[in-house]
Amino acid sequence: MIDTIKQYLQEVEGFTSTSKEEIETFRIKYLGKKGLLNEFFAEFKNVPAAQKKEFGQVINELKKAATEKVDALQEALKDQNNLTGKYDDLTKPGEPVEIGARHPISIVKNQIIDIFSRIGFNVSEGPEIEDDWHNFTALNLPEYHPARDMQDTFFIQTDPDILLRTHTSSVQVRYMEKHKPPIRTISPGRVYRNEAISARSHCFFHQVEGLYVDKNVSFADLKQTLQYFTTEMFGKSKIRLRPSYFPFTEPSAEVDVYWGLETETDYRMTKGTGWLEIMGCGMVDPNVLQNCGIDSEVYSGFAFGMGIDRIALLLHQIPDIRLLSENDVRFLEQFKSSI
Ligand code: DAH
Repeated sequence: MIDTIKQYLQEVEGFTSTSKEEIETFRIKYLGKKGLLNEFFAEFKNVPAAQKKEFGQVINELKKAATEKVDALQEALKDQNNLTGKYDDLTKPGEPVEIGARHPISIVKNQIIDIFSRIGFNVSEGPEIEDDWHNFTALNLPEYHPARDMQDTFFIQTDPDILLRTHTSSVQVRYMEKHKPPIRTISPGRVYRNEAISARSHCFFHQVEGLYVDKNVSFADLKQTLQYFTTEMFGKSKIRLRPSYFPFTEPSAEVDVYWGLETETDYRMTKGTGWLEIMGCGMVDPNVLQNCGIDSEVYSGFAFGMGIDRIALLLHQIPDIRLLSENDVRFLEQFKSSI
């Protein structure tokens, strides 16, 4: 009997197959309910006491060998199936991979960064939750200054000193506090204003601030820089600077770019004038330089600030600013081919 079992053991060890059915037949033959092993185990009680030990050992060995063999063959079969599932036809076209799209705000922001980096501006950032000093006071807007009304502010309720920045001009202050001139930096970022939401305005939007501080910086430098920017950004080099007022610049101006009146859209966008307002700018007020620890007797500078959302709406003919924050993929997908 023991010899028969040993023969089976050899058979088990020598068995191999890649056929699911064959492996199953093998499993049933040895390990099935009415299989050989159960038969041998049932036989155990009839084995003479002297042989019980050896008999027990060989049937256990047989059981172990059969179980391991079935497991190994089934595992190999699974791997085989996985491989054929993946590689059965290498000439099949690949599965299409969904390519994401950059957000129009990011596209315009990157374009602006690229244009200014070519003339030596770096990129700086500041916090969206600001304090009164950086958002207002250092920028020449003391507590009761009427110009504060221009910017309806979201305050953090528990502390009237902490607010959501109303413009990226706050980054100017932070940058000047940390760096000595020469300074050439642009600061893109999100800003917040307590305004009613409509197709044209939102309670949060995005700006890019620009700052240039060095010895002998003049208004002519500012104008030249802006003209370079509008040419690169819009392909339009005709600009005009209208006198304006910002507490942190003196003199201050608003920049219009001549868009032209060639198409119906041009008429609509420029309200029939051909001119489009794109940003505010001016020479940094000496008080602001002093507030940031820069000697205004030695240094002068210019600054400008523009809205990214407005430019995105303009360039991509987007009719409603709310589309920029609704995350509707049908809208966002349309920017797939852009950089
Ligand atoms: N901070 C201004 C705003 O939010 C924009 C601005 C105007 C920034 C003139 C400037 C500037 O740096 O010189 O409307």
